[in-house]
Amino acid sequence: MGEISRFADLSEVIVPAEKHGVEAYISADYARAERDKLWRKCWLQAGRLEDIPEVGNYITYDILDDSVLIVRTAPDKIKAFANVCTHRGRRLVDTPVGKRNAWGKTANFVCGFHAWTFDVTGDDAGVCSYIQQKMEWNGALTDENTRLGEFKVDTWGGFIWINLDPDAEPLRDYLEPAATMLDPFELQNMRPRWRFWTVFDCNWKVALEAFDETYHVAGTHPEFMQFGQYVGWGRQQGKHSHIGYDAPKGGPKEIGETKGKLRLGDGDPRISTAAMQKFTWEGVNTNTTKTLYEVAQTLPEVLPESATPAEVIKYWLETSRKIDADRGVHWPVVDSEHTGKSGTSWQIFPNQQIGHAVNNMLCYHARPYGYNPDKCYFEVAVYELYPEGEAPQTEWTYAEPDAFPHVLRQDFSNMAAVQQGMKNIGFRGNIPNPKNEGAVTSLHRNLAKYMGTGAPVPLKPES
Ligand code: FES
Ligand SMILES: [Fe+2]
Repeated sequence: MGEISRFADLSEVIVPAEKHGVEAYISADYARAERDKLWRKCWLQAGRLEDIPEVGNYITYDILDDSVLIVRTAPDKIKAFANVCTHRGRRLVDTPVGKRNAWGKTANFVCGFHAWTFDVTGDDAGVCSYIQQKMEWNGALTDENTRLGEFKVDTWGGFIWINLDPDAEPLRDYLEPAATMLDPFELQNMRPRWRFWTVFDCNWKVALEAFDETYHVAGTHPEFMQFGQYVGWGRQQGKHSHIGYDAPKGGPKEIGETKGKLRLGDGDPRISTAAMQKFTWEGVNTNTTKTLYEVAQTLPEVLPESATPAEVIKYWLETSRKIDADRGVHWPVVDSEHTGKSGTSWQIFPNQQIGHAVNNMLCYHARPYGYNPDKCYFEVAVYELYPEGEAPQTEWTYAEPDAFPHVLRQDFSNMAAVQQGMKNIGFRGNIPNPKNEGAVTSLHRNLAKYMGTGAPVPLKPES
């Protein structure tokens, strides 16, 4: 639920109704096939650049059977290695118990089994530089046949992306058109305010899909309806998709005519903006910043009752922008036409969602939990802009689902129930709202291309 949202006029776009089955969510065979057909083929978001700021810093990223060791080998170079010792296959870097992944800084990686040692920096990164009794191989061991396996790695938006497929297309090509649409928001300058991970009793797709449509707001977050009703849209964009809101019909004239702007709610815009910001800041701690929240609370006092929605937004944003600039936080300037077109969030195929704005972003990420189709890892991270050197030090922290902010708990309450419900022999398949839940259908269209099964089909009145 993105409370600060942008509109694009897609109200007239007609999308045919489609239906897709439940195999992708509940089939153990499908979950097993995902390893080779999906996870070993796609570019995957594996971390943030700020997590490995110095030479020798590393993080790991695990996806089913594969573990990737991402290392800054030089000030301007990152490499992704297979996290496995080339001697007899011991995982090289262990994940500390209870942690999401391993991280740290080192001069070399020493295998815990027979102490083979691998270089971390410079041109020799990945080379096995120490092997006990190496002469006993009679010269058969070389740098080539002992060096760590390597994967494709690239960066975009401040994120590190890896690909296990040596023949994968370039990252930029894979990410388009999302990359071009999101570049103006300068996501690479944002740093995490908080980041938590948890485990759900549902398939990873169920978890992600709970956040890629706004159709659920009335049913899952009914208290948001006090701020007005907004119709959402979700559109396929190649491999990816994005979602947003229609400009409200019959709403304030200024809102309807302005292409890129923030959602204000019904009634006195000073009061509704203050209330929505308070609700969002305290209830979910996403999609806004302390500056935006605090300036919003002053609106009823500093602006006259006659202030129009456009005036309220203008004052609120300009004041917040100036307060942030004075403390060294500079929001990028994004053309309002572009802002409107970009929507509120992008679903990067297959398992990353980026809710973007000029001064904050909300990211969701889901991964399978072994080959159990009924379980997944789920991660939530909120980012914002900080003055140089003042970003808080955060790390991925495990949290029980009921420890998250209450609006997210509302979303979480559907996860296991959806997973269970779809197994019911009486369920006939998913029939997403063609417009509002277009991102759900987009995911299954693209999944079908990789998996060779499960493509959505037209929904007929009799089906
Ligand atoms: S498995 Fe790593 S040194 Fe033997
Ligand atoms: Fe929600």
